[in-house]
Amino acid sequence: MAVRGTRAPVGEPLAEMREAELLALVRAQPLPRHVAVIMDGNGRWATQRGLPRVAGHRAGVKAARAIVRAADALGLGYVTLYAFSTENWSRPENEVSMLMRLLERAVRSELPELMARNVRLRLLGRTNGVPAGVRRGIERVAHETRHNTGLTLLMAFNYGGRDELVDAFRTLAARVRAGEVAPEAITEAHVSQALYAADVPDPDLLIRTSGEMRVSNFLLWQIAYTEFLVTPKLWPDFSAADLYRAVAEFQGRTRRFGGV
Ligand code: FPP
Repeated sequence: MAVRGTRAPVGEPLAEMREAELLALVRAQPLPRHVAVIMDGNGRWATQRGLPRVAGHRAGVKAARAIVRAADALGLGYVTLYAFSTENWSRPENEVSMLMRLLERAVRSELPELMARNVRLRLLGRTNGVPAGVRRGIERVAHETRHNTGLTLLMAFNYGGRDELVDAFRTLAARVRAGEVAPEAITEAHVSQALYAADVPDPDLLIRTSGEMRVSNFLLWQIAYTEFLVTPKLWPDFSAADLYRAVAEFQGRTRRFGGV
């Protein structure tokens, strides 16, 4: 199946358009339901400025806040941010503990704004292995926002795509053992239903900053037909206007879903 791009031809190149114009342009066309983001380049952003890496992560938090506001203004249904991967544990211990504290504090301090914007926070990832205080802080915000009906913000935290599939296969194996499903009756839908956020539609668009052409163990099952957009911008420099440009580019693409 092919779904034609719907973006109307624009007179002005996207790169030269300002935030408000871009917002109006993309809002007039069908939106992706779910945008996933690999936020990469905080460390390089800091190094380029002669700053410690922590300064890059702090700037990264600001960029994440701006993107949540922009996604809300746009009316997106779901945004997934890759905040901490299972591989990130191999960073130096002080960077890991600093990141944990920073992410927990960032989420906690955002609670009033998430409530005001009707944003629901959900966690995606394995909860075991995360320091208890950090886990409790983030889970509290997820709990407080659980009835919000606007944007759903999925925070991939201690997340690994292969781990998610291993966990799904364990769930399925248990169902087989319990006699609920026969091995030969297992379909793609069974696997999808066993994922961490089974009710969330697959991402339509995956954005990666800092120019790296890698998937980095992110949403491996869910991105089978996702459109990719890699920008050379480092995450702290990624703005609301950049998100709108990415969506405009997505709207101009033709999705084939394996067809012609
Ligand atoms: C990539 O930079 C970013 C991370 C490892 C994740 C941390 C993300 C933030 C602090 C942004 C805020 C997120 C939320 C959800 C509040 P890097 O260190 O890999 O950069 P490098 O590749 O240049 O070293």
